[in-house]
Amino acid sequence: MDKKVTVIGAGNVGATTAQRLAEKELCDVVLIDIAEGLPQGKALDLVEAAPIEKHDSFIEGSNTYDASAGSDIIIITAGIPRKPGMSRDDLIKTNMNIMKRVTADAAKQSPDAIIIIVSNPLDAMCHVAFDTSGFPKNRVIGMAGVLDSARFRAFIAMELNVSVENTHAFVLGGHGDTMVPLPRYSTVAGIPITELMTAERIEALVDRTRKGGGEIVSLLKTGSAFYAPSSAAVEMAEAILKDKKKILPCAAYLEGEYGIDGLFIGVPVKLGKQGIEEIIQIKLTGAENAALQHSAEAVKNLVADLKKLA
Ligand code: NAI
Ligand code: 2OP
Repeated sequence: MDKKVTVIGAGNVGATTAQRLAEKELCDVVLIDIAEGLPQGKALDLVEAAPIEKHDSFIEGSNTYDASAGSDIIIITAGIPRKPGMSRDDLIKTNMNIMKRVTADAAKQSPDAIIIIVSNPLDAMCHVAFDTSGFPKNRVIGMAGVLDSARFRAFIAMELNVSVENTHAFVLGGHGDTMVPLPRYSTVAGIPITELMTAERIEALVDRTRKGGGEIVSLLKTGSAFYAPSSAAVEMAEAILKDKKKILPCAAYLEGEYGIDGLFIGVPVKLGKQGIEEIIQIKLTGAENAALQHSAEAVKNLVADLKKLA
């Protein structure tokens, strides 16, 4: 195919992302992981599914970066989850070091690529990839808002017994407890949900959205969500590969927009072949803006922790 996407990390999110990219026949995929045999085995398995799934995307697995050369997009899912006895700082430090290494290796092979970061803590990892790659801000994008908005949309559709296709939602801010679901900008067939539900029900859905990642972790027990996260990363990749000019909530490097400077945080952006082609500034009420600024403070603290640990 004429487009190539490298997915780093062949774990739950990475392998499912590779599968979705291939089954949508968007590109060829290079799947990279540090674990010997893992990316090669998953890639071969996906290649062997292709005749049945009816696509001609090729998936190659590797432990090195040579095959990734000239990629249009690099999706980074490499990282480790928190293990018993590990502090938050330990996790940040370990994932920061992984992020530095994989970004440097991938950026060297594909200097013109657009990077989509998935690894957690998301907003902080965006800073690491941005600093390490030296890429311009339009080519470093974090995935969180599309996932958090999809969760909100799913809950809205279940609550009102309507098609998910009729729903739209915006969740801005950092990917954590301080995220900012925006009910005023969340709609069913164009009608704001503030006209369709009581304030109490909206608050319940907002709360479930904020805790959406944790809800899946507590059910799975051995890992975190990967079906919806991979769908979200692929929606972003598709918008870029097809130059769709699609407006999606993504973590973007802000330089004064929303009164925030020098920080990655989730805001609506226009995605096309240049990556982030525009940061969309929507009007926020005083309370919505205060919630976004509060979330930005939480991300700033995380980034400050990173700098201390570096
Ligand atoms: P996983 O544990 O299934 O896979 C991670 C993979 O990264 C493993 O296969 C591991 O071998 C690999 N890896 C570790 N170090 C590496 C290195 N130096 N080079 C290449 N590969 C390396 O984890 P999962 O579920 O796929 O999640 C991946 C990351 O994505 C986690 O940090 C998770 O918290 C994050 N995540 C973020 C979401 C978001 O909304 N931004 C949503 C879901 C997951
Ligand atoms: C999630 O929201 C773990 O960040 C991940 O599911």
